[in-house]
Amino acid sequence: MNKPKVVVTRTQFENEMERLRDVSDLIIIDTPNPPTSEELKQKISGATALFAHINDSVNAEIMDAAGPSLKVIAEFGVGYDNVDVDAANERNIAVANTPGVLTETTASFAFTLMQSAARRIAEADRFVRNGKWAHFEPLDLLGYDLSSSVLGIIGFGRIGSYLGKIANDNGMKVLYYNRSIPEETYGAQRMDSLEELLENSDVVSLHCPYTPETKNLITKKQLKLMKKSSTLINTARGPIVNLDDLYESLSSGVIAYAVLDVTDPEPINMDHPILNLDNLTILPHIASATVETRKKMSKMTVDNILEGLQNKLPTYCVNSENISW
Ligand code: DGY
Repeated sequence: MNKPKVVVTRTQFENEMERLRDVSDLIIIDTPNPPTSEELKQKISGATALFAHINDSVNAEIMDAAGPSLKVIAEFGVGYDNVDVDAANERNIAVANTPGVLTETTASFAFTLMQSAARRIAEADRFVRNGKWAHFEPLDLLGYDLSSSVLGIIGFGRIGSYLGKIANDNGMKVLYYNRSIPEETYGAQRMDSLEELLENSDVVSLHCPYTPETKNLITKKQLKLMKKSSTLINTARGPIVNLDDLYESLSSGVIAYAVLDVTDPEPINMDHPILNLDNLTILPHIASATVETRKKMSKMTVDNILEGLQNKLPTYCVNSENISW
């Protein structure tokens, strides 16, 4: 009997690929760049499952190129905004993700970014490399202590609330803005509006999902409400922050600093003027990038696919209420 076809869009951990190879006709797209839409359409034809990554725009056209055999789209990550879930619902395709396993890694990364902004790590590194380290200078490169700062967290789900816990443990006052009231708040104080959170925070960290409602959530209007001395951290999704407005606000002193692990688009256009600013640290979407966490994410993505191949709805299916198998 023919084995079902499974397509993996990037090179992944080999032990996890072995698990798929045992039961499927496995295609791994290991080209230097992620597949274009046209390439993916060709590869996915006749597939039963797709192991997708954030770069892949998995829309109706891709699903139709796979044809009626496609049962599972398993995203390597907790965010699945690159998958058109409505189109998947219409085609009875299960969409699955990897919640939980990256919470601590991502939240602690956001805290690390806050620390590095507060202690001017990137700037100090450039200072040395540019030959400016002449002697010890008591009043140079002074940062600030997070323990005397207020953190405002936008989106208080798994990752946001875990960051709240870390910040609280480190003596910060924590505010949050979230539509629903979470079960555990670790001493964080709820703000009734986004405006109230922005006005009262020294550091603002974004942890909401990317949806039509959160696209451009932070534009120059919101940045103006923040303190002049404040820092914005984005480890969520690029389009939540308007990059041109952020550039304007950073270059005219509306806010003091920003750290971006995500941008719109990704990768960032290398001509964007924001890359010339000293009060920005920019990273290539690495919040969950530890060996331990990426291995767990890979395993969970494969588990989701294997369940689907056995006609079981994946444990971490995000659209189970719309699927009838
Ligand atoms: C996630 O898990 O959503 C990460 O951003 C990788 O896509």
